[in-house]
Amino acid sequence: MKFLTSFCLIVSLATLGWAASASWGRRNSSDYLMLRENVVRTPIRNRNWSVNVDFPKPGQINRRTITAIFVYDRFTNTSGAMPSLWSGGPNLTFANVNLRSQTSRGINSTVEIYVK
Ligand SMILES: *[C@@H]1O[C@H](CO)[C@@H](O)[C@H](O)[C@H]1NC(C)=O
Ligand SMILES: *[C@@H]1O[C@H](CO)[C@@H](O)[C@H](O)[C@H]1NC(C)=O
Ligand SMILES: *[C@@H]1O[C@H](CO)[C@@H](O)[C@H](O)[C@H]1NC(C)=O
Ligand SMILES: *[C@@H]1O[C@H](CO)[C@@H](O)[C@H](O)[C@H]1NC(C)=O
Ligand SMILES: *[C@@H]1O[C@H](CO)[C@@H](O)[C@H](O)[C@H]1NC(C)=O
Repeated sequence: MKFLTSFCLIVSLATLGWAASASWGRRNSSDYLMLRENVVRTPIRNRNWSVNVDFPKPGQINRRTITAIFVYDRFTNTSGAMPSLWSGGPNLTFANVNLRSQTSRGINSTVEIYVK
């Protein structure tokens, strides 16, 4: 049964093709939204975008622990950029989220970082 459930999950993920929204960690109701960044890029023919969202911003200092990171794809069709957590994240005080667009597609994604 467990196998069947995972199998169905894999099939549905494969059908969606591109996981353009993502989250890491868990948000508690008392957590504080420390960063909300809209990343918008216009498409470039035959090229893909790779955009890093850094937290904290250069020159800034953050001592609060990250609880959750959310990435929302604003395209909501299948054109969204793929988010990856390159370093840091939940339980740490820094994070580096990368957004990689599909070839010839732009980006319209929002990154949210919550701290406690
Ligand atoms: C969520 O926050 C409340 C209030 O600060 C705290 O009592 C609770 O333990 C927290 N839960 C988790 C899972 O961190
Ligand atoms: C990005 O998505 C938001 C929400 O759907 C929309 O309001 C905005 O116009 C979009 N921006 C671009 C440049 O497509
Ligand atoms: C998805 O939406 C964006 C923004 O509206 C658009 O530029 C893009 O062509 C759409 N992708 C598909 C596969 O329809
Ligand atoms: C963060 O720390 C908590 C408590 O130590 C632990 O339960 C949780 O698995 C950790 N999360 C991550 C993503 O490391
Ligand atoms: C993005 O572009 C780089 C170099 O231009 C290429 O190596 C990579 O395969 C491309 N990735 C995607 C997902 O198209």
